[in-house]
Amino acid sequence: MTTIALQRVAAPVAPILAGGNRLLGHTPEYVRSPEAFLHRGWRENGDVFRCRLGASWYTVVLGPEHNKVFFRETDRLLSIREGYPFFPRMFGGEFFFLAPQEEYLRQRAVVLPKFKADAMRSYVAPMVEETEGLIARLGDAGEIDLISEVGPLVMDIAAHAFLGRDFRRRLDDSFFDCFRDFSRGMQVTWPQWLPLPHLRRSRRARRKLDRIFGEWIRHRRERPVDPPDFFQNLINARFADGEPISDEMAVNFTLMLIWAGHETTAGQLAWTLIDLLQHPDYLEEVRKEVDGVLGDRASADIGWPQVSALARVECAVKESERLHPVAHMALRRATEDVRFGPYRVPRGEYVLAAPCVSHLMPEVFPDPLAYRPSRFERGSAAASLEANRLIGFGGGVHRCIGVNFARLEMKVVVALLARHYDMELLDPPRPAAGALTRWPAEPARVRYAARTAAPGRQAPEAEAVSPTEAAPGGCPLHGDRS
Ligand code: HEM
Repeated sequence: MTTIALQRVAAPVAPILAGGNRLLGHTPEYVRSPEAFLHRGWRENGDVFRCRLGASWYTVVLGPEHNKVFFRETDRLLSIREGYPFFPRMFGGEFFFLAPQEEYLRQRAVVLPKFKADAMRSYVAPMVEETEGLIARLGDAGEIDLISEVGPLVMDIAAHAFLGRDFRRRLDDSFFDCFRDFSRGMQVTWPQWLPLPHLRRSRRARRKLDRIFGEWIRHRRERPVDPPDFFQNLINARFADGEPISDEMAVNFTLMLIWAGHETTAGQLAWTLIDLLQHPDYLEEVRKEVDGVLGDRASADIGWPQVSALARVECAVKESERLHPVAHMALRRATEDVRFGPYRVPRGEYVLAAPCVSHLMPEVFPDPLAYRPSRFERGSAAASLEANRLIGFGGGVHRCIGVNFARLEMKVVVALLARHYDMELLDPPRPAAGALTRWPAEPARVRYAARTAAPGRQAPEAEAVSPTEAAPGGCPLHGDRS
């Protein structure tokens, strides 16, 4: 008899969380507030419990030991592909983590080098330039809704870093709107095949984005840039066996990277800023660090060495990932029976890992509700806080490919805003209701005023990147690109 079969006989399934109703199970409570629901489960049942969402059973697993099994068994006893049934309708079934494992690893090998620590140096300049562009548009004083500002900023950075400065200069807001429509394809619906309006809009947006990126590929094949940037390298890339990347594959990679990095980074960045604004003492420490490291350096001279030296900003980014993980849960489906501690998840059922609870366990993060970025200060203990403990970017082979990029980006934006502005949060923060990625809810208004004595502060106009400065040829969405 195999080990798996033995486990099937030996282990009981996890206890079912109280509550729920016959028709919808625990769905209404989960939708109202996933965090509150998952916390209740942990309080009442401990690290492993079952609940019913829609028609399906989910085993919720919490804490480092179970996280370790969750990530280790992915692609073995747990399927990531079947965990996210809404992705195939957005990307097709044979792409990246939706593809069979051999094909997934083949595709991943093409993009992975672009996200290793070494490659990060080249992304600092676009991040600084786009953030300075935002600062120029904001001017010296005013009031913004953080949520409406971070979304477009993150999109501009991604377009600049992944598609090139020339592409970014041609953008207007409709690109952002088109992406937002595309992203709505991941909203969960039951049953999956219902042709609801947001799904039709998502498909329309996908066709439009295919056209835009397809044309951009043709443009770049005719007029390659030298030295090659991210996009040029991508369309010139080959698989390990020498086969060139098809245009269709290049479009899919581009879509996936911008899409995967957008919702998540924008939400996490908003939380990082909000947390800092709520903790002025630490913000002051951050600012001292930023002033000390950047000095009176012009923004064009800010590079990798400076950004890597911003240790306190990095701690702030990690502490907000811990307290407000925007990817608040990860899903898998058991392809065989699988053990979590004393319990068995039967084949065919779902497993849900929940950073939003695992990050608040006092035995892992002492004084878990306190905002204390210093817990991530560099050193041996900090590294051990990450694996299977700080899991806002997942873990194992499918750990977020963009983790270095996203953390770098958040550091740059936070550092430059803290360098330029005094800021005050005007609304009490709370997570947006019903969202799959847990952004702060709107409004999250911030009043800002330029610091008068900031070292290296330049007149914003000097570096303005206004939409009217777009390169000849106009927005990629609106044609006329000769
Ligand atoms: C704060 C920002 C981000 C957060 C919180 C985040 C979170 C995550 C998480 C939790 C996973 C694993 C999901 C799972 O195991 O079920 C993941 C995977 C992934 N992320 Fe991110 N992400 C962020 C930014 C980015 C960026 C900037 C990119 C690309 C530019 C990116 C691209 C990806 C890709 C391609 C995967 C799939 C990896 C694989 O299956 O091999 N993400 N992300």
